Amino acid sequence: MKDSPILIIGKNGKTGLRVEQRLQALGYATRGVSRSTAPAFDWEDRATWRAAMAGTRSAYVTFHPDLAIPSAEQTIRDFVALAAELGLQHLVLLSGRGEDGARRAELALEQGGLDWNIVRASWFMQNFSENFMIEGILNGELALPAGDIVEPFIDIDDIAEVAVATLTRPELRNRVFEVSGPRAMTFAECVAAISEATGYPVKYTQIPIEDFVDGLRVQGAPEPLLWLMRELFTVVFDGRNSSPTGGVEEALGRPATDFSEYLRKVMATGAWERSGMQQQA
Ligand SMILES: NC(=O)c1ccc[n+]([C@@H]2O[C@H](COP(=O)([O-])OP(=O)(O)OC[C@H]3O[C@@H](n4cnc5c(N)ncnc54)[C@H](OP(=O)(O)O)[C@@H]3O)[C@@H](O)[C@H]2O)c1
Repeated sequence: MKDSPILIIGKNGKTGLRVEQRLQALGYATRGVSRSTAPAFDWEDRATWRAAMAGTRSAYVTFHPDLAIPSAEQTIRDFVALAAELGLQHLVLLSGRGEDGARRAELALEQGGLDWNIVRASWFMQNFSENFMIEGILNGELALPAGDIVEPFIDIDDIAEVAVATLTRPELRNRVFEVSGPRAMTFAECVAAISEATGYPVKYTQIPIEDFVDGLRVQGAPEPLLWLMRELFTVVFDGRNSSPTGGVEEALGRPATDFSEYLRKVMATGAWERSGMQQQA
């Protein structure tokens, strides 16, 4: 079992990719899986789980679409039970701060009988550059149902490093690492900083939750995603997570990455370049 691979669930996801790259750079064997890999792993098809998990020793687990959804608790409970049956020893779960549903899923892991870690994260900085907010940035207007609430957005390179630390350092096991960035910012402040970094104007507009959900529905978003967005922007994004946390420092012995460093890294990738669009000074 010692030389068997570390399983990464969500191989091509934002954090799974980073965790797998870091483990491989350290010389660990990995098995990254998702619906598009062979073997495949699909959270919605339990028949795929056994083959994807068999022969691995530990796992980094990203749930899709979000641990906040009501079915997540039972799904994680079943997953942990199968992991125990297959002889996995340690599971590291990526979770979200302040989500009641996520907490229930975390408990299913903590009570499952295996070694565990929870990396409980604030909202990702990379939502602005690798996720649903990038379109608004490139179009010059990010419209969201979030007002003056501040959020200590986290750089997911930090999440990946914390996850790797928990997977490779046994003394960190059976702990929650509540991770965030070092300073809390409003969406308007984030967008202003992105606008300054890119050199083109981007504005933040606060819109009512109903307008936001209707807009997603018109674009064809499925009902579960609409439910999730409503949950995230009304229940979870209410100020309960505004305080920065010390999880990155606790795991890594260094401060969490600041938004300014995130901006520098994204600018170097070209992700916010407006190809074919007129740059407006
Ligand atoms: N975004 C945030 O601000 C935030 C904050 C805190 C916590 N989180 C948590 O982060 C987790 C997501 O992690 P992430 O952002 O690293 O992943 P991600 O980027 O959302 O992962 C996307 C990958 O998941 C795979 N996938 C989609 N549906 C799947 C399914 N039914 N079964 C298996 N794989 C599936 C897809 O690959 P294939 O198409 O190949 O299957 C895709 O490449 C969520 O649980 C969320 O709660 C997010």
